[in-house]
Formats: sequence, C-alpha cells, structure tokens
Amino acid sequence: MSTGLIDLESSSPGQLPILERRSIQRKMKLTKAARYLGAMLLFVLTAWILLLAFPKRQHYISITHDFGIGFDLSPSYATVAVSYPNGTIQPIARVEGDEVYRKMMVRLSLSSSQHLHQPYQDVGEAIGDSARQLVRDTRKKLGLPSSRDVATLCNMLRALRDQASSFVGEPVSAAAISVPHLAALYGEDLYDAFEYLSLVYVEFFPFYDFRPIPAAIAAYAGNGLGLCADYRDAAACEEEELHISSLFALAVGYTHTGLTTSQAHVSSAYYLEETPTLENMHLGYDARCGFDSYWEAVRQYLERPMVTSPVQRNISMVVLFGDAVEKPEFREVLKQAIGVIGGEPEIVDHQPEFSAAKGTAELAKRAIYRQMKGLNITSESEL
Ligand SMILES: *[C@@H]1O[C@H](CO)[C@@H](O)[C@H](O)[C@H]1NC(C)=O
Ligand SMILES: *[C@@H]1O[C@H](CO)[C@@H](O)[C@H](O)[C@H]1NC(C)=O
Ligand SMILES: *[C@@H]1O[C@H](CO)[C@@H](O)[C@H](O)[C@H]1NC(C)=O
Repeated sequence: MSTGLIDLESSSPGQLPILERRSIQRKMKLTKAARYLGAMLLFVLTAWILLLAFPKRQHYISITHDFGIGFDLSPSYATVAVSYPNGTIQPIARVEGDEVYRKMMVRLSLSSSQHLHQPYQDVGEAIGDSARQLVRDTRKKLGLPSSRDVATLCNMLRALRDQASSFVGEPVSAAAISVPHLAALYGEDLYDAFEYLSLVYVEFFPFYDFRPIPAAIAAYAGNGLGLCADYRDAAACEEEELHISSLFALAVGYTHTGLTTSQAHVSSAYYLEETPTLENMHLGYDARCGFDSYWEAVRQYLERPMVTSPVQRNISMVVLFGDAVEKPEFREVLKQAIGVIGGEPEIVDHQPEFSAAKGTAELAKRAIYRQMKGLNITSESEL
C-alpha cells in the first residue's frame, strides 16, 4: 500500500488507517512549516540586505565649543577633565566602572582577546574581518551599539560626558580619549561608542585613523610636557615642538586594580613609541594582601621594560599615572627598580589620577582650535 496525495484523492480519508492519516497530516504540516520558514528567511534576508544597503543616517554633529574635553579610561574607573582657552585645565570627575566594565577591561588586557580590527594592514585583513564587520554594521543600522563592548564603553562615556556638560554648563559635543595599552582595546570600539553618543571623536595623529591616545603620552602632556607654549601661533608652535628633545622614559600606570608598564620614547606630545609594553590586571594595589610575593612581582614588572628592551636605553624619565602611584610602599619598590638602571631619572607625577585626562583635554583643545581655524581659512578662500 502506498501513501501520498494520490491516495488521499482516490479514497476518502475516513477509510485510511488512523496512524497513516496522522502521518500524512504531519507531513503536510511539516511541508507547510518548511514553506513558512522559507518565506520568513527570505523576508528576513531581504530586510537585512535592504537595511545594510540603506544609507547610514547622517548625524550632522559639529564641535560647538572651544574648550577641550579629555576622557581617560583606567581598568576600573575613568576620569574626565577640561582645558579652557584661557589656559586653565581642571579635573572634572572620576566615574567608577561597574562590574561589566571591569570584567571587560580584564578581558581586553589578555592577548587571547585580540582579533582583526580597523585600520587594516592589508586587504587580506579586511577580508578576514568582513563577517565581524557585517555584524557590527547590522547592529548599527538597527540603532544598537556595534558590539556588547561598545555598549559598555557607551555607558561609561555617557557618564563622563554628562559630568563634563554639567561642569562647563553647556552640552559637550566633542572629546578626545586616552586609554591604557591593553592588548585588545581598539580605537574602533571607542570610535563607534563616540558615534553612538553623537560625540565628535577628536583626533590628533594624522594618517592614523582610529588610533586612541596612549595613557602614557596623555599623562606626559598632562604634566605640561611635549607641547609648545603658544598653540595659537601655528608656525612658531610647530617649530618649537619639532625641537623638543626626545628621551626614553619608564611609563607606569598603577591603580587599585591593575599595573601597566612600558618603555616609552617621547618627545613632542604628538609622538610616542612604546615598546615593550606590559599589562597585568591582577597586580593592582588591592591585590597586595592576596599573595606574599606581591611587591616582588610589582618590582619585576617595573624593571622589565627597562632591562628586557633589545637595546639598552638611557632611561631619564619616569612618568607615573593612576590612582595608586602615591602609595608609599609602591614608591619604595619603584626606587629599588630604578636603582637597577642607575642614575637619577626625573619623576613626572603631577596629579596622577587626573593627569592623563588633563593632557587629553589639552590636546583636544589644541586640535579643536586648529580645526576651527582650518575651517575658517577654507571658507574664506572659497569666497
Ligand atoms: C578660565 O576660564 C574658566 C571658564 O570660563 C574659568 O572657570 C577660569 O576661572 C578661568 N581661569 C582664569 C585663570 O581666568
Ligand atoms: C641620559 O639622558 C639624559 C637626558 O636626555 C642626559 O642628560 C644624560 O646625559 C644621558 N646619560 C647618558 C649616560 O647618556
Ligand atoms: C571661525 O568663524 C566663526 C564664524 O564664522 C567664528 O565664530 C569663529 O570664532 C572663527 N574661529 C576662528 C578660530 O577664527
């Protein structure tokens, strides 16, 4: 005996054995379900393609102020500062990171979290990363932050921006950001977070899209180093910054939750080469009671950038930033570590909790000035 639609037509359904009838009904249901599912998929696919093809909604955001706002992210908190055109630079606030933020920063400090990202080195990288970018684009088109990490960053940046807005008494439309050198904390995510919040991402490094400001250089600038005296005099400023002598520094970011160290080649605040860089999110000050050899481990982390460098450098400066660098025990260990290289390097550590945000704010103010001036020059030359 055969089954199928022909049987159904030739004999009345009532005559079929009950089991068989059920199986036919089930098959019909399944076919119907498959068709339905197919139609759904086609619809979703079409909608998705249309969504991706739809031109991105343009936010016409422009910079509305001449002061500079600087954000600085640390492993467990972030800070914000303002630099006014009259030369006053002020810390504004410190915002604690929540559990999600802290976990994200620990994850991003691991080299296992690294992945392809913009800007790409070559076409191969761009192709290899296209699936991830497609997901990001889709999320953006749906009005969502482009990834979960971007959403986490958005929450932090929104809090910093709101603090800044209420401090300066007007909406903040642009800011710059500095970050510690964590293995997988990419400018791409920061850029997307700014975009989501309709904030202009102020950049300084020409030809380096998406490159965030390293906290070490931000702290250096926040101590008043590497910058010309009068940024309004463009020619003199450029000349002056060109002649700032370069030197090698040990850069140390030490907070209650993490330790980052590097050997930094610094000169003007628009230049930085950091190598090697080390980061450990388990060597913060709060971990000191957790294990016996804590201070020994910290000392090794401080020494390593100086002694493991392929070329023995003349380290003549130590740049310190973060909310724990003033702890006496830390200073003692730092002194021992510096002893390894001999000499008396200059210690640069003014307002270490806020120095990176302050330096970033100052860099932002100068970049905004140049941009505004540039715009006026172009519009004048077009007349
Ligand atoms: C600079 O300007 C800011 C904001 O207008 C003000 O709070 C600050 O007191 C000024 N500083 C000086 C030195 O005038
Ligand atoms: C190390 O660098 C500092 C500052 O750049 C310089 O004053 C000092 O002479 C240098 N020392 C050596 C041994 O080269
Ligand atoms: C640029 O032009 C605008 C208006 O045209 C003016 O408000 C602003 O002060 C100018 N900026 C500079 C740096 O000259």
